[in-house]
Amino acid sequence: MKLDADAIRERIQRNTAPAVLEFLPELRLHLVTQETPLWRATDADLERAGLQSPYWAFAWAGGQSLARYVLDNPKLVAGKRVLDFAAGSGLVAIAAMKSGASCARATDIDAFAIEATNLNASLNQVVVEVVLGDIIGDPCADIDVVLAGDVFFERELAQRCMPWFRGLAARGALVLFGDPGRYHLPKGGATRRARYVLPDSPKIDGEGVRHCDVYAVDTP
Ligand SMILES: C[S@@+](CC[C@H](N)C(=O)[O-])C[C@H]1O[C@@H](n2cnc3c(N)ncnc32)[C@H](O)[C@@H]1O
Repeated sequence: MKLDADAIRERIQRNTAPAVLEFLPELRLHLVTQETPLWRATDADLERAGLQSPYWAFAWAGGQSLARYVLDNPKLVAGKRVLDFAAGSGLVAIAAMKSGASCARATDIDAFAIEATNLNASLNQVVVEVVLGDIIGDPCADIDVVLAGDVFFERELAQRCMPWFRGLAARGALVLFGDPGRYHLPKGGATRRARYVLPDSPKIDGEGVRHCDVYAVDTP
């Protein structure tokens, strides 16, 4: 069943709660918390609720570290046009707007992520443009800074992202990504800029994720 934007927002609000992460006290996000029904949901529960793969309901390690890096280094985005690729909850775009970006566009292939970003932008009193769809390969000529939180969690996406990121960096964009050492993290082509220890690892990451790095894609 295809849901309209209002129905998606209602479902997000019913299954999450506004929360502040210890690592990102500047932001409030609609997230899965211990008090929300999603916390103990099984795959069958998620399917019944029409909430398969609710990536948007977690602040992933890569997104948390990238948002932290942007908030701590506002000069990187101040006055710049920013893209948050694979935005999920939209936390990185929101961090960019809080850091003085002139505008931020959040893209994701999941309509729930788009509406979660809308809700979270309102919660943080910033404006974020949202685009639903797969823009990999787009030259993004109107973008100065590309930010991507936790996109190397699956092989096909990782294989498509890195050549695109390299092309964007080659034409002058600053391309930053946050990654906790996922299996498909590229072996080269990017330089580490920061390492963080995360107090709030998302439940879906299990106990394994503690360190998370921010990289800049190298320019040729
Ligand atoms: C691990 S989550 C990360 C979300 C957010 N960046 C964060 O760090 O919390 C990955 C996100 O990538 C999105 N995604 C997967 N393939 C995509 C594609 N081809 N284009 C845009 N988004 C994609 C998923 O829908 C999901 O929201």
